[in-house]
Amino acid sequence: MACVEGRARAYASSANLGPGFDVLAVALDAFYDEVYVEVCDAGGEAVAVVESVEGPYSAGIDLDGNTARLAVNALLEGERVGGVRAGISIYKSIPPGRGLGSSGASAAASVVAAARALGLNPSPHRLIGYAGLGESVSAGSPHYDNVAASLLGGLVVVAVRGREVLAAYRAPLDGAWFAIVVPMVEVPPSKTGFMRSVLPGTIPLGEAAANFGRSAALVAAAHHGDLEAMGRLMMSDDIVEPARSKFTPCYSEVKKAALESGALGFYLSGAGPAMVALARGRESAERIASSMREACSCCGDAIALPSSPAPGALEVEVV
Ligand code: HSE
Repeated sequence: MACVEGRARAYASSANLGPGFDVLAVALDAFYDEVYVEVCDAGGEAVAVVESVEGPYSAGIDLDGNTARLAVNALLEGERVGGVRAGISIYKSIPPGRGLGSSGASAAASVVAAARALGLNPSPHRLIGYAGLGESVSAGSPHYDNVAASLLGGLVVVAVRGREVLAAYRAPLDGAWFAIVVPMVEVPPSKTGFMRSVLPGTIPLGEAAANFGRSAALVAAAHHGDLEAMGRLMMSDDIVEPARSKFTPCYSEVKKAALESGALGFYLSGAGPAMVALARGRESAERIASSMREACSCCGDAIALPSSPAPGALEVEVV
């Protein structure tokens, strides 16, 4: 072998879509990370190393504890590849710590690039498992929604039992556009862990069942191209978003602005602070994004832009 190389691009993703905590996410083409992996023969156990991180959001990214390194290590171990050193170089243009699946995208692109370099073709389920393990670094526990969206593209639903990925599907999502606002407020280094710690530990069965029903109906609505129903369902989470919204700067102001400017739905993106609105068409998404940015001025700078669903890392060839 001597040395072989692989490249991949993974887009940002926005998890939960309201009631679909840890099971729904959508890949968004507004931001992406690219990864180059060089795998060389080396003695002993397989090892992955992040060699460089460049790009607009490279500052302060941890190389050793990086999700990409852990994800590639999981891939090498899971696919029984020994005696190699995998050097990972990341181009990071997804803002980290904002609820846009930045670490998940790096992990997703890294496992695809490493698999391409080695000529391996693991199933999407296995790749989701490897990339999700990498994600546990940033969240404190593994969750697979962001990595599944970045790997498969579009709107995904992922089902796990323990650490086993039972099913991951991409649902049709015709005609949907999204408006994203990213408040550039300071967030703690363990923001996702914190935003998971504020969630209720137990939920009455009736409430949980109602939330499951609403997330399942959201996927069905997407299947039928019923964007109005999707939008209503996005705003029907009674468990996670109410607990987190009080820690999200300008949440109420931004939600009001989005709905007044024509959004069909609105939700907190993953653990935030980014927020996302559903729109029909690009023009509407642009208008909503700019209203959301204005509403964010109460808490400082914000990036806002329209976005459409992105392809998955498994589909995008990078030369
Ligand atoms: N589903 C995860 C959460 C996504 O909401 O905590 C974190 O990006």
